[in-house]
Amino acid sequence: MARTPIIAGNWKMYKTPKESVEFVRQLRDQLRDVKDREIVVCPTALSAAAVVETLRFSNIQVGCQDAHWENEGAYTGNISPAMFKEAGVRYIILGHSERRQLDNDTDTRINAKLKNVLRNSLKAIVCVGETVLEREAGKTEKVIEAQVKGCFEGIGLGDLADIVIAYEPVWAIGTGKTATPEQANEVHTFIRGLVAKGYNSEAATNMRIQYGGSVKPENIKQLMAQPDIDGALVGGASLKVDSFGAIVQF
Ligand code: PGA
Repeated sequence: MARTPIIAGNWKMYKTPKESVEFVRQLRDQLRDVKDREIVVCPTALSAAAVVETLRFSNIQVGCQDAHWENEGAYTGNISPAMFKEAGVRYIILGHSERRQLDNDTDTRINAKLKNVLRNSLKAIVCVGETVLEREAGKTEKVIEAQVKGCFEGIGLGDLADIVIAYEPVWAIGTGKTATPEQANEVHTFIRGLVAKGYNSEAATNMRIQYGGSVKPENIKQLMAQPDIDGALVGGASLKVDSFGAIVQF
């Protein structure tokens, strides 16, 4: 079975609720006829409900950028998957490198969050990726392997259909430096191999692996032409209707 491409926009801490709604109104119209791929936008949590409302009956799903490992509790400033679920959110990005670096997201935490996302019947985009120092030291595979193993600890085979992996080399995020399509594909193939080792070859074949890091309308085609690249997680270029629309319609 061919893997359905999945293009997701990670808006990070950009766009107010009003800007978010206006944006998806335009995007919805522009992408109305796109059928053969999954489209996801990930606004800030504050805008999620209004964006879900605006995209009702459209071909665009809504994701958010993190969710807690508990469903409720004394966790000031946090939001649980159960709350996102009720708001109509479908995907949660977990372990983005900015959260790993700035918000204490460790593999152990990401794993706990992933389990709770799945318990709430949401889907997850789990991010992995090496820093420039790790790449230069020849440690890319070691780092990715540790992240994948840590994040997937105790996750059953039956849950894999609800998980997308995003390979995002930290040195390519927001820097304008894209991994070459071949460099990216090499790591994607490695990740698919890890899924085969940890689960089985069918699970590996079915796993969708997105690339992220300076994806633009100009490089999406070459990236998507690689056999193990199944989509993109787009930051900067997802903030404009035209560039995100062009990426979706690669
Ligand atoms: P970028 O961000 O496309 O701006 O490099 C990607 C990401 O952080 O997911």
